[in-house]
Amino acid sequence: MWSKNWWKLYRAPAVMRRWSILLILALDLNVIVADSTQPDKAYYAKKLSGIKLEKVYELVSARVRRYLKAEIDLIASMLEPGLNILELGCGYGRVLSAFAHSVEEAWGIDNSTESIALAAERYPDLHLRQMDAVHLEFEDDAFNLVFGVQNFISACKVEPQQLLLEAMRVTKPGGRVILTSYTPQFWPHRLEWFRTQADHGLLGEIDDTATGDGIIVCTDGFKATTFSLDDFKKVASSCVAEADFYTIDDSSVVLEVRVA
Ligand SMILES: C[S@@+](CC[C@H](N)C(=O)[O-])C[C@H]1O[C@@H](n2cnc3c(N)ncnc32)[C@H](O)[C@@H]1O
Repeated sequence: MWSKNWWKLYRAPAVMRRWSILLILALDLNVIVADSTQPDKAYYAKKLSGIKLEKVYELVSARVRRYLKAEIDLIASMLEPGLNILELGCGYGRVLSAFAHSVEEAWGIDNSTESIALAAERYPDLHLRQMDAVHLEFEDDAFNLVFGVQNFISACKVEPQQLLLEAMRVTKPGGRVILTSYTPQFWPHRLEWFRTQADHGLLGEIDDTATGDGIIVCTDGFKATTFSLDDFKKVASSCVAEADFYTIDDSSVVLEVRVA
């Protein structure tokens, strides 16, 4: 605002100049304040990737560790040799690396260049690409299983229907798409984990006035939401997808789509 308008003051009388400068500064300030309350859609790519993202998963309580393992066990239970699998939002490869030797090809995409670079360094056996989950550069029917765990459906900040349709497009007939979010009973453990992340400077300060009921908001633009079983039912039905909906470990809500 300031940079766009300052030159107009050049010809104004002195009093007007003073007031205009104050007004422009106030408007600028307002823009800054307004921006800080807006969720940042590219938060992970800009602020929480690579080594910082890895730290997030080191700061876990025993209960959160159990939840993370339950999601890995769920995907592992669906695998067999010969499958091609794809993880959406694979970060630095924490989950996908567990399956590298159980399948034909383990592919991972993430929109963060930094996380993909760290994943490639840590796990050279994985097939990794920097890509947006709603614009997958894969042919139709390329994978047997496509999954986005750890509440990816919220983290990716895209239309959930668009995300599911794109995941289904690249899944072979007879294959599956898995998306997960959090159960309400897991909320205290989840919130404690995110407070720990904030305390370690990985996230901005938690905004306690806006946080609650499955939503975590930080003062630096971080926002995480939750998809309930009902939300998943709505997403699946809007995509005309044949699906199951269930919870595991009292911590994860699962949408499992069988692609026709
Ligand atoms: C909560 S982290 C989970 C990382 C990894 N799945 C794990 O559990 O260790 C979410 C990841 O999704 C990625 N991401 C966010 N939006 C994305 C998008 N539109 N397309 C691809 N990746 C995205 C972020 O960069 C981040 O690595």
